[in-house]
Amino acid sequence: MVEIRQIPLYQTLTFKVSIALILCFIINGVLLVLWDQADLLTDMETDIQTTYRHTATEISEELENMKTDTQNMSVFFDSLATYYPGMELFLVSADGKIMEHGSYVPSTLIKTTVSIDILESFIKADINDYPIEIPIPTSSDLDFVFSAAPLGPADDPDAYVLVTLLEGGEDEPLSWWEEYGALLTRTVLLSLLIAGLTGILFWYFLTRRIDRVAHAVQSYRAGNNGFALEDKARDEIGHVAMHVGDMMQRIDVMFEELGRKEKLRTELLASVSHELQTPLTVMQGNIETLVEHRNKMSEEDRNQKLGVVYSQVQHMSALIDDMFDVAVLETGQMKINPEPFPIVELIEDVLQSYALIIDQSHLTIERNFAESIQTVQADPLRIRQVIRNLLSNAIKFSQPGGKIKISTEVKQNEVLNFRIEDTGIGIAEEDLKNIFQSFYRSNQQMNRTVQGTGLGLHICQQLLKLHESNLEVKSRLNVGSTFSFDLNLYKEVVSI
Ligand SMILES: Nc1ncnc2c1ncn2[C@@H]1O[C@H](COP(=O)(O)OP(=O)(O)OP(=O)(O)O)[C@@H](O)[C@H]1O
Ligand SMILES: [Mg+2]
Repeated sequence: MVEIRQIPLYQTLTFKVSIALILCFIINGVLLVLWDQADLLTDMETDIQTTYRHTATEISEELENMKTDTQNMSVFFDSLATYYPGMELFLVSADGKIMEHGSYVPSTLIKTTVSIDILESFIKADINDYPIEIPIPTSSDLDFVFSAAPLGPADDPDAYVLVTLLEGGEDEPLSWWEEYGALLTRTVLLSLLIAGLTGILFWYFLTRRIDRVAHAVQSYRAGNNGFALEDKARDEIGHVAMHVGDMMQRIDVMFEELGRKEKLRTELLASVSHELQTPLTVMQGNIETLVEHRNKMSEEDRNQKLGVVYSQVQHMSALIDDMFDVAVLETGQMKINPEPFPIVELIEDVLQSYALIIDQSHLTIERNFAESIQTVQADPLRIRQVIRNLLSNAIKFSQPGGKIKISTEVKQNEVLNFRIEDTGIGIAEEDLKNIFQSFYRSNQQMNRTVQGTGLGLHICQQLLKLHESNLEVKSRLNVGSTFSFDLNLYKEVVSI
């Protein structure tokens, strides 16, 4: 008995697809976060630039109003830097030298000059041109936005005010997790939800059905033949289920057929032993009598016993011939050799060989042959065998005084119909469907007294099938029987 195997969850397709989906979503989420981060930075930069655009201008105006001298400048810058801890302030001379520097965060100057061109381009820049980069002149490399304004006349400034802004301003910069952790958690949770839902749908619409097919096959292997495999869907899985179902049905049919053939073989063997037993017993009895009493027996008695033995040998020989034919026909190895031959001559020949028996049985033969010359395309040896068996049956199953009519008829210039009718015992309705089976003999009183094995009609039917023809029968009990079949007429190929 084959065990029906359950697939562990981690090996199922659903599980693998769900894991793949979760990974896809997480990777997707991380990528989105990174992308978002890059966008966010640029947006932030532009926002801050816009906000602090005028910081330097405001400081420069303040300076001009206050008329602060350069000595007090550093005090002013430091106080401003303390007030706005996110800023670094520079006073730059007209030729770009840094004259004053104020910052809340401790930082030292690493450059003493600043590019006037950058300052000028900032002052003249359109708001859409932000951010304009400036090389940071101090050690605090956190600055990333700046603002600049001229001191004195705009077209010829005495100096410049430069303000750079420290990233994050007064706030402590956030860690990566603080900034994006929540987003990532949401991404992972959402991924799990979507993957879970997809997994359920995947299982419901696909794997559950595949599983059912696998179960059906396993159950079939385990010997459960009546398993119905139903999947009405017309998709690929529906097709697989349908084909597997068909295949299982076909295997069932094949097994049935094999079983039937096996049964037939056993029956054949039993019938053959039985059929051989009867003539052997008869022969044995007669030979024993001959051996033990031959000296006391008259010549006539001896001949009679020998005659019986001879007829039994003939019967056995015919039986063995028939069995050989059945065996060859069953294996599909029987080959026919069709050739043109005149059918009427063949019929006459067969009639001739039965002339004595017909005479002894007091039967009359009536012929009704079509007038034209009838040449058929068939295997003459096999057709002779068929006609001989049909004639022998007609004789066997007729009572003295009976009539046997043999006719041929040409149909549509294509086929020849052979027909043999008798006025014999006929065949009962319930026997008619069985008479073409091997070893079948009807159960009638008279039949039991007539010799035969029940192979004749089976062989005739199979031989005619090889000729793509069919043996047909009509019969009425105690009225008579008619057997008929068609053969192809020979068509001469006229070469020009
Ligand atoms: N012309 C017929 N009239 C009445 N019954 C027939 C006729 N032909 C066949 N049958 C019935 O069909 C059975 C099968 O015929 P079939 O020719 O196969 O076997 P058989 O004649 O009994 O034996 P075998 O032909 O092998 O010697 C016969 O036993 C008989 O019962
Ligand atoms: Mg027969």
